[in-house]
Amino acid sequence: MASKKTIAVVGATGAQGGGLARAVLTDPDGPFHVRALTRNPVSDKAAELAGLGAEVVEADLDDPGSLRRAFEGAYGAYCVTNFWEHFSPEKELAQATHMAEAAKDTGLEHVIWSTLEDTRRWVPLGDDRMPTLMEKYKVPHFDAKGEADRAFTDRGAPTTFLLTSFYWDNLIHFGMGPRRDPDGVLAITMPMGDKKLPGIAAEDIGKCAYGIFRRGRDYTGKTVGIAGGHLSGAEMAAALSAALGERVRYDAVPAEVYRGLGFPGADDLGNMFQFKRDFNAYYCGARDLDESRALNPSLQTFEEWLARNKERIPLE
Ligand SMILES: NC(=O)c1ccc[n+]([C@@H]2O[C@H](COP(=O)([O-])OP(=O)(O)OC[C@H]3O[C@@H](n4cnc5c(N)ncnc54)[C@H](OP(=O)(O)O)[C@@H]3O)[C@@H](O)[C@H]2O)c1
Repeated sequence: MASKKTIAVVGATGAQGGGLARAVLTDPDGPFHVRALTRNPVSDKAAELAGLGAEVVEADLDDPGSLRRAFEGAYGAYCVTNFWEHFSPEKELAQATHMAEAAKDTGLEHVIWSTLEDTRRWVPLGDDRMPTLMEKYKVPHFDAKGEADRAFTDRGAPTTFLLTSFYWDNLIHFGMGPRRDPDGVLAITMPMGDKKLPGIAAEDIGKCAYGIFRRGRDYTGKTVGIAGGHLSGAEMAAALSAALGERVRYDAVPAEVYRGLGFPGADDLGNMFQFKRDFNAYYCGARDLDESRALNPSLQTFEEWLARNKERIPLE
């Protein structure tokens, strides 16, 4: 343990960081030690990580001093923000900047920043193909993450920019699972037309990140996109039908309809799907399946993820 290099894991009690923490902790012969950052070190999830051998430290992304202390002496850090807790791109940008500053100040050798595209590079604010949201964003929960890339590059932090993909776990936790129509038929709804949606088991994001940390310097300064599969809505519905033993239809609604569904963030997600649909060749091309599998040889396909998780998908 004394010779192991410490990875400070932001979001260790969550999906992405948790996957990384578990990947490191279940590889006792590996080169790393986990320092799990959390605002609440006495939570059940923090206790579970401590039980697996993690060092748990208190830190808050809104408190730069706590981050500096938590990064001190570490070799690397996994950096992630949680837009859906506050719905504020400005807060996300500020939190990413705090992490970049702490990484630079403490001399980290390898940072992974869990980012997404700044879609305004493809759809400038003046482009009315999709509405501008919150006055200066097209896809708020993407744009601020992409904008924050510069916080890391401007400070010269040795960073891998990790482009993540749609979690298939959204079918369980994010209200995106199959819903019954008035005739009782299950349907998934996405404004993707016949285009492919790169997706991934949330747990595999952290496993890919572990592969990136293991490769070290070869990956600093690089942008890497990961996915476990690129599936159209029809292909997802077919796989769901097979796994659930009941027909699931795919409803390819227009993006305007999705934006108007009325749940919090529907407009942001409607623009997100439209971006993925309208720039599909770029978006899928940026998330290479072979490279993802090379980083994480146990990468799950959608069918494998369904076999393990189908009972957890709520069918309303
Ligand atoms: N759902 C998707 O399909 C998808 C796809 C790609 C990217 N994403 C992005 O993934 C991000 C969320 O990551 P996740 O799914 O891993 O999150 P999650 O499972 O919801 O967990 C959130 C994590 O963030 C930590 N956290 C939040 N605010 C913090 C703060 N102020 N200080 C310290 N830690 C804080 C929490 O730690 P404590 O509560 O223990 O402090 C927790 O570990 C979002 O920004 C989202 O846009 C989602």
